Amino acid sequence: MITVRGLEKRFGAGGRAAVDGIDLAVPQGAFLVLLGPSGCGKTTTLRMLAGLERPTAGEIRFGDRVVVGVGTVVPPSRRGAGLVFQSYALWPHMTVRANVEWPLKVAGTPGRSERVAEVLDLLSIGELAARYPGEISGGQQQRVAIARMIAPRPSVLLFDEPLSNLDAKLRVETRAELLAVHRATGATSVYVTHDQVEAMTMATHVALMREGRVEQFGAPLELVRRPATAFVATFMGTPPANLIDGPGGERHMYRAESLRLDPAGDLETRYTETTPLAGRYVVAGVRDGQRISVVTDAPPRLALGDVMRVALPDRPDAVFDAATGLRR
Ligand SMILES: Nc1ncnc2c1ncn2[C@@H]1O[C@H](COP(=O)(O)OP(=O)(O)O)[C@@H](O)[C@H]1O
Ligand SMILES: [Mg+2]
Repeated sequence: MITVRGLEKRFGAGGRAAVDGIDLAVPQGAFLVLLGPSGCGKTTTLRMLAGLERPTAGEIRFGDRVVVGVGTVVPPSRRGAGLVFQSYALWPHMTVRANVEWPLKVAGTPGRSERVAEVLDLLSIGELAARYPGEISGGQQQRVAIARMIAPRPSVLLFDEPLSNLDAKLRVETRAELLAVHRATGATSVYVTHDQVEAMTMATHVALMREGRVEQFGAPLELVRRPATAFVATFMGTPPANLIDGPGGERHMYRAESLRLDPAGDLETRYTETTPLAGRYVVAGVRDGQRISVVTDAPPRLALGDVMRVALPDRPDAVFDAATGLRR
């Protein structure tokens, strides 16, 4: 449904590209998460999909329609894409109903009040219709922004860190609602976040980005189970995998589940902390400034700074080239 080829964006002459040649093929109905650290180019990619930013090279198609490419630039309003940001950007002087109706009014869509009632209902905010944005909570404002986005029935939904202003509990609830909206609309969604837990719980597809490029594209579990690069291995998973320098300079990856606490273990660390995780424990230590995580069934009897020895299995879970970071 969404095809991206050689997408590039440079701001100004010279310098590093913010987006440096991205290729993606996203099937109809997919929920793609663009994941990666701050500054890796997620927002710029999303803005190019929306039409708010013009690529310096490459092509984007929605279905078989080129929305931007050589000689073609379809303006944002004609792309059939809806966009929701971290800040809700509601009109403060309009009621919830008027905010949601606004894009339909601009487009001159018939049957507006029925459609508004329908989307308010889908987002469970029907009873807020007569209120103003200043009279409802942040979570409710975000639902209004989502209702406004889907009212014109876009075939592509674009989200830029839409939950990062919400508290932890509300974030989890709103995640589920967002997925329900995505499914109800049958649209293809692209969702930007730096939070891998959000990616793991919501995505059908993940594109993990780094410095303007896609480091790996695939199903979320694929990235955890078969990381293509050392960067993917240390970014994904709860806890992320451990990377330890091998004898030939290559980097060995060990999942936290593959390591054991053992007083006779080869690896000496200094204990830092224990965190419960789904009935088990993530026990962490540091070694040469590097964090080492081990999953255990019981919390260890250690105090901060104690020596904690870790036993490695016979073989690492994966080996990466030291220079390129690529899996061997
Ligand atoms: N309008 C702009 N002008 C110049 N540089 C920009 C602009 N927007 C983004 N950048 C730069 O492009 C890179 C990617 O930014 P962005 O796409 O916002 O990253 P992310 O959303 O992953 O945090 C960053 O280095 C950022 O500083
Ligand atoms: Mg961003």
